[in-house]
Amino acid sequence: MDLNIKVNEKNHLDIGGADACDIAEEFGTPTYVIDENRIRDNYNRFYSAFSKYYPDFRVFYACKANTNLAVMKILESEGCSIDAVSPGEVYTARKVGFGSDRILFTGNNITNDELKFVHDEGVVLNIDSVSALKRLSEVVDPEGLKISLRVNPMVGAGHHDHCITGGVMSKFGIMDSEASEVYQMAKDLGFNPIGMHSHIGSGILDPEPFKLAIESTMDIAGKVHQDTGIDFEFVDFGGGIGIPYTPEEKIVDLDEFAKVNIELFKEKIDEYDMSSPAMFLEPGRYLVGDASTLLVTVNSVKQSYRKFIGVDAGFNTLLRPAMYDSYHHIVDASKMGDENTQKVDIAGNVCESGDLFARDRLMPDVEEGDILAILNAGAYGFTMSSNYNSRPLSSEVLVTDGECNLVREKQSFEDLFNNQIIPDHLK
Ligand code: LLP
Repeated sequence: MDLNIKVNEKNHLDIGGADACDIAEEFGTPTYVIDENRIRDNYNRFYSAFSKYYPDFRVFYACKANTNLAVMKILESEGCSIDAVSPGEVYTARKVGFGSDRILFTGNNITNDELKFVHDEGVVLNIDSVSALKRLSEVVDPEGLKISLRVNPMVGAGHHDHCITGGVMSKFGIMDSEASEVYQMAKDLGFNPIGMHSHIGSGILDPEPFKLAIESTMDIAGKVHQDTGIDFEFVDFGGGIGIPYTPEEKIVDLDEFAKVNIELFKEKIDEYDMSSPAMFLEPGRYLVGDASTLLVTVNSVKQSYRKFIGVDAGFNTLLRPAMYDSYHHIVDASKMGDENTQKVDIAGNVCESGDLFARDRLMPDVEEGDILAILNAGAYGFTMSSNYNSRPLSSEVLVTDGECNLVREKQSFEDLFNNQIIPDHLK
């Protein structure tokens, strides 16, 4: 099993050297528990796998996966850069200490004000449509401004239809067939186009689609180079590398993955006679996905037509199972040694039937008061949580070599009223 589960001498789940049940007791549940060393290891494994074969390589963490300030600080300290998709993410990254040269903005359907905000922060924009290109040239001075364009490599893959971002159904990027024309337009408007970007989707364990995407993106870049004379400073192939969520799934062999894709990248550079651009990748899930665990408490066990284990969190806390039917491995952190004896449904506390973390899941004899750990909740977990059902957003705890620090307080009921204004006539 590639799920990296550790158990301590009390038969409790160990998270980064701390006892999951102790964390639950000290900080309450639901709480996201982040393992600092795991993030550092993930980053270093990822960076060295690629930079070994191609030193002009940079990692842009797709911070939409997890914008906790501590998580971003950890990656900042490792030398990572940021892929931001909204002005809010740019603002957050700047606040954390990322210089503007360490942020790349890849927005979609963004307004003129947003284009201007990102530009004024000194961040290079990745433009995803002719509309945005023209509008950018109207709201800022395009003369000599470095920009990049996002193209649709006509390859798409992902763990769910919602997470496929290339191909004919995708709203992202400029069509491959019009890339040269749009790059020429950018030049004619006065811009200095230095980069090309593509991203095929998210949660991909199969290396094949990435190879196809590198091939196709480089064919587009090569053709643009030949048609317009642009010499790219970088080509950015986005993110998407998956992690194992089920015990059967295998981790991606990163060394092999890097070797094969960089060989292909270099072949294409030669084929199109380009001066070697830097290679950028934008992993989100790979860096943080397996570094957080959502701890919840079992508050009811109900034998109905099925057996339901009820917990104190719901899809407002972790949306992925309800939204994508995603599998998250769940263990009883209080009794890790116990054998799985029964099939149960693990249900949340939101008033909707779809609020289930698992159906027909093999578990030990789970009892009220047990702490369940929902694994691999670090990517698109907290960032997609909401106040639905007027539930306060949960807390987050950082574990560093067994030491725990609260890095986000649980919201209060008062926080639910933030920014709401009752008009005078209703007072
Ligand atoms: N770059 C771009 C332009 C992206 O749109 C994304 C993710 C990434 C990089 C990072 O992809 P990753 O390495 O994390 O797969 N909420 C979904 C995932 C949505 C991904 C959106 N874009 C989920 O929970 O699975």
